[in-house]
Order: sequence, then C-alpha cells, then structure tokens
Amino acid sequence: MRRKLVAANWKMNGDDALTETYLLAQNKLEASPCDVLICPPATLLRSLSETFRNTNILVGGQNCHHEADGAFTGEISASHLRQCGASHVILGHSERRLGQGEDSHTVARKVRRAREVGLDIILCIGETFQQRESGLALDTLEGQLVRSLPSEQVRPESLTIAYEPVWAIGTGHAASSNDIVEVHSFLRQKCVELLGGVGGKDVRLLYGGSMNPGNAAKILALPDVDGGLIGGASLNPGSFARIAAASGGRSH
Ligand code: PGA
Repeated sequence: MRRKLVAANWKMNGDDALTETYLLAQNKLEASPCDVLICPPATLLRSLSETFRNTNILVGGQNCHHEADGAFTGEISASHLRQCGASHVILGHSERRLGQGEDSHTVARKVRRAREVGLDIILCIGETFQQRESGLALDTLEGQLVRSLPSEQVRPESLTIAYEPVWAIGTGHAASSNDIVEVHSFLRQKCVELLGGVGGKDVRLLYGGSMNPGNAAKILALPDVDGGLIGGASLNPGSFARIAAASGGRSH
C-alpha cells in the first residue's frame, strides 16, 4: 500500500502573505489523510519550513542545478534546498523542459545530484497536445521516464513520478479518467520493468493538471493514482486542503 501525496506547486507565485494564510490552514492540512508537501519559490523555502517545523507538513523546491556548486549565476543547488529545510524537489516540470530547454539527460543529472544530498524526487513527465493527437503520448512518456532517471537505481521510496499532460496544466481542463487510468497503468508497468516488481510498486504516481476541489475526489480514487501535484488551486490553502482531504490516504 502506498501512502498518497498531495503536493502544492506555487510556481513563481506567492509571498509572505500566502505563507501566513497557509499557516491559518495548518490544522486542516495536518489532519489530511495523506502526506502534504508545499513547494514555494526558493526565496520562501526557509521561512515556510520554519513555519511548519514541528508539523507533518513537508516543504520542497521546484528545481535545482545539476552540479553540486560552482560558477552558475542565478542557479540554486540541491544542497541549498536541503539547507533551507526541503525534503523534496520537483524536477523536469514541463515549464522547465519546454520553457527553459531542459532535456531529460539534464533532468537525470539533477535527479542524481538531489539524491546525493538526500532529497526525495518528484519527477514530472507529460506529453503535449500535438503528441497526444498524433498517438505519441505513451511513447513520449516512456522516453521521458527512462531518460530522466540516472543510470544508477534511485531508491523507489524516494521517487515519485508526476504525470502532467502539458495541455491540462493551468487550462481548467483536467485529463479524462480514461486517459489518466491508461497512462498510470502504463507507467506502473514501466516502473516495474525499470525498478523491479517490489520497487516499481512502491513508486508513487501523481496526476497533475487542473486538479481542483471539484474534480480531486474522482481523480484521486482512480487506480494507480497516488496523489496530485497542484498548481493554481494550491494558491488558495483552503482549496488545497480540500484536495488533500479528498485523497483517501492510501492506494492499493
Ligand atoms: P495546475 O498546475 O494545477 O495549475 O494545472 C499543475 C502543475 O503544473 O504542477
């Protein structure tokens, strides 16, 4: 049985005021039946992790560099995230793959670096609308998954895969239940092939893309959906807490 994870991705949004409103929702978040993770912009990481220090609410980064340190102006390292109290890092989000030209090879190097300092990974993969329309969704996802993992095995308990169809992110149009079930069962099978029967079943598979309090219960009850990665709806802690409350806690 996998414990579900509901993760907030604030992206380049949020400020001290949002941290304050999250603090007001602390009781609700702590009462969630699943793991709860908040990934704010890097500048808010330390204050958020201090705010939630003695709680079961986790905080994480949204990206890290693939090198440990050095002359990389404007970048942030995995150990910087760790020092600010992060337990997780989101890697390979489509807004970085497509917007910042990040390829799967680079993502794999980031995964390795993050694991070296003990960060758990939320590895995002997702097809574009054109790839889906051309019947290339599953091939695209398999390619991203295989190439975004480093050659040495990542401990399955420290790995979460987030399926985020690019066309569903921030559009208000979540993928259909049929599409989610098809992709998640495919990804489960691929994880078993890559990580072995036991390990492949321990990896959490999240869905992300226009999840909100209205559709969360239905999506989070689908087979092999072990939680969600929430963008827009996480900018309202009340909405985010309702999604976490709808998660059901564990997957079979
Ligand atoms: P969304 O974003 O919930 O706003 O669609 C999800 C994500 O990009 O992680």
